[in-house]
Amino acid sequence: MGRLNGKVAIITGGSRGMGASHVRRFVSEGAKVVFTDILVDEGQALAAELGENVIFVQQNVASAFDWEKVVAEAEAAFGPVNVLVNNAGIGAPNKRLEETTIEEYQRVIDVNQLSVFLGMKAVLPSMRKTTNGSIVNVSSLAGMVAFMNQSSYVASKFAVRGLTKAAALEFSQYGIRVNSVHPGSVITPLTTNDLTKEMAAEVNKAIPLGRAAQPEELTNLVLYLASDESSYSTGSEFIADGGLSVQ
Ligand SMILES: NC(=O)c1ccc[n+]([C@@H]2O[C@H](COP(=O)([O-])OP(=O)(O)OC[C@H]3O[C@@H](n4cnc5c(N)ncnc54)[C@H](O)[C@@H]3O)[C@@H](O)[C@H]2O)c1
Repeated sequence: MGRLNGKVAIITGGSRGMGASHVRRFVSEGAKVVFTDILVDEGQALAAELGENVIFVQQNVASAFDWEKVVAEAEAAFGPVNVLVNNAGIGAPNKRLEETTIEEYQRVIDVNQLSVFLGMKAVLPSMRKTTNGSIVNVSSLAGMVAFMNQSSYVASKFAVRGLTKAAALEFSQYGIRVNSVHPGSVITPLTTNDLTKEMAAEVNKAIPLGRAAQPEELTNLVLYLASDESSYSTGSEFIADGGLSVQ
């Protein structure tokens, strides 16, 4: 018996990285999954590999129009949506606040923060048709503590944490739980590209567990929050950072 049997889930940013790990595991735990991304080739290849219980939809998470399309496609294919994982996100240039342009700031806010507002708003009518919805918003350790030269990213991820709590209060009357996940350093294309790998290497030195996480280690947490096993948790922060924030 899968831990997500009978659930319909939407996962954003599922073409690669942590999102792809969530998609794979959700399917193996019995969910029907609609995943979205701007990376079309990777998304279509993953959907083809995983079979009939998975659909890929091209989406820019910062577009309200795209969100309507995604929820409509999910409902048409699989029925009302039980789970939403707002995972898609981008990094920010490693720049001091005074050097950051308004356009750079706004882009990070749109993709990391506005997207979460739009996703929760768009999915609510569908999720209200179910009895036990769960929304998992992927913030960051940067939503708990600040990091140097990351003002837009930190602002976007703190906002996701706050939005999560605000939505948890409002949605509890519909039996919908809303929680945030705060990964520390995870080995994905986001942290291993040329722009970010030096910064990540610096952060990794300070991790008490002595290493960055594999995506699957975060999937375990997201799976728990998506499933009914976390039935009494809402409006809470779930940190998985190898102890980075302890000292
Ligand atoms: N990797 C880490 O160390 C780390 C740490 C803390 C938080 N996070 C967060 O975890 C989430 C997943 O990150 P990841 O490390 O797997 O990164 P990743 O870059 O491997 O994956 C992110 C996915 O989001 C997609 N995406 C980007 N912009 C999009 C848009 N406008 N619309 C739709 N999809 C879009 C990308 O194409 C990509 O497939 C992000 O929200 C990130 O901020 C990552």
